[in-house]
Amino acid sequence: MKLSVSFITLAVAAVASARTFTVKNSCSYTVWPAIYTQRNPNGTAAPSPDHATGWSANPSSQVQFSVPDNWTAGRIWGRTECNFGGSSGPNSCITGGCNGGLECSKTSGTGVPPASIAEFTLSGGGTTDNYDVSLKDGFNIPMRITNSVGCDQPTCSSDLNPNCPSPLIVKDSSGKIAGCKSACAANLDPDPNNSPNCCTGSHDKPATCPSSGVQYYNYFKKPCPATYAYAYDESSGALHYCAASKKADYTIEFCP
Ligand SMILES: *[C@@H]1O[C@H](CO)[C@@H](O)[C@H](O)[C@H]1NC(C)=O
Ligand SMILES: *[C@@H]1O[C@H](CO)[C@@H](O)[C@H](O)[C@H]1NC(C)=O
Repeated sequence: MKLSVSFITLAVAAVASARTFTVKNSCSYTVWPAIYTQRNPNGTAAPSPDHATGWSANPSSQVQFSVPDNWTAGRIWGRTECNFGGSSGPNSCITGGCNGGLECSKTSGTGVPPASIAEFTLSGGGTTDNYDVSLKDGFNIPMRITNSVGCDQPTCSSDLNPNCPSPLIVKDSSGKIAGCKSACAANLDPDPNNSPNCCTGSHDKPATCPSSGVQYYNYFKKPCPATYAYAYDESSGALHYCAASKKADYTIEFCP
């Protein structure tokens, strides 16, 4: 009797410390999702999802996995037009490729712009999940984050590729527009270390890096107002919050 009671206690503790994430591909094309978890400041591995850091997702497919509820600075994004046959590296995909190949490196596999990115810190400060859809590095696939508890559902359902302004365009080998870089990622400033697009140098504070100084900001922000479209976009409501006590499960959907 005593043994079964402690087994139940353990089982409940295990359930309470994890969330269920679903990554769903509603696009008509294959997406290669990727996960990256920021390392601890001392370089050791931080708590991370119980899943491969990269996989192939056919149209209309989904996977589920558990994520520790102290997942910090985690990101999930989709890669397009990948071919891991030759060299496996960031150039194995037209957009979103990472160091490592199909599975992104756990130390340096953060992904190459442009990519639409779902960002999470669960139970930040012990009390709040923080999450957003980031177009800070640009856009490649329409994306939505939903959850099981009625918190915000940031969405960018528009396809921002076809009308991408020419200085931001990334094309595939057939000439199709596959991605749209942000002005920062496209390196439109002469000096990336002192850039109003990247909020660096003398523009490294919210007060000195307003969205009005970021080229093409409205191209991304107007159709997708709930997204994070440049480095200091918090004041627009781009960062979303959900009480950690609600233990939300999250779904990241491509082409919602
Ligand atoms: C590294 O940092 C993590 C948390 O940030 C800590 O749990 C771990 O003990 C540290 N490891 C070493 C070898 O210092
Ligand atoms: C994260 O949560 C796990 C499971 O509850 C725990 O073992 C671990 O120490 C926590 N790590 C950090 C860095 O808080």
